[in-house]
Amino acid sequence: MSDATVSLRPLVMRDVPRLVEICNQMQVARYLAHMPHPFKRSHAKRFVTFGMENPGLVFGIAFDRLLVGALQMRDQLEYFLDPKYWGRGIATCAVRQALDRLFSTTLQQQVKSGYFIQNKASGRVLEKLGFVKSIQQTTTTRHLSMALHQSMILQRVRWLTKPALKKEK
Ligand SMILES: CC(C)(COP(=O)(O)OP(=O)(O)OC[C@H]1O[C@@H](n2cnc3c(N)ncnc32)[C@H](O)[C@@H]1OP(=O)(O)O)[C@@H](O)C(=O)NCCC(=O)NCCS
Repeated sequence: MSDATVSLRPLVMRDVPRLVEICNQMQVARYLAHMPHPFKRSHAKRFVTFGMENPGLVFGIAFDRLLVGALQMRDQLEYFLDPKYWGRGIATCAVRQALDRLFSTTLQQQVKSGYFIQNKASGRVLEKLGFVKSIQQTTTTRHLSMALHQSMILQRVRWLTKPALKKEK
């Protein structure tokens, strides 16, 4: 996957229908504990507005200019992609760009994220980018009962001292 085809961009109000379309798919919604479901236009508008008011925290993920997903780094790093585009390295590429931007433009010392252990793809994305395991907790979500959640953390120093994390593998 080349960085040339995956890019981050700010979300704008005309992205609302596309965000609704992506986030209402159960394959996406089931692993996003904080995302309302059904995901209505009003939810998408709130998400876009938050991004507009907090530059650098929310990005649309574009693949060949089409909006295919989004990520946010509000409290924790979270990301999602239209299932049609899964398995091509797009999430890894997008999150890598977001981390690079974050650590080169701020002094933030760490980024937290996590995944439900059934969500192998998400765990792998974080692992490829240098996140390491912290605590595991059992939790219940709207879509998963008694799900095991693995928290992950990436330290700034690790990102800056391991150039290989910034490169495609
Ligand atoms: C998680 C998600 C963003 C991954 O997107 P993606 O673009 O397919 O991810 P990538 O292609 O960059 O990387 C996926 C990795 O997981 C691996 N993978 C995928 N399914 C897997 C499985 N069932 N078991 C083990 N590994 C798996 C892939 O092989 C790849 O690893 P590799 O590069 O070493 O081969 C996407 O599945 C998604 O949007 N899911 C729903 C929302 C979500 O779960 N968000 C994360 C919560 S924060």
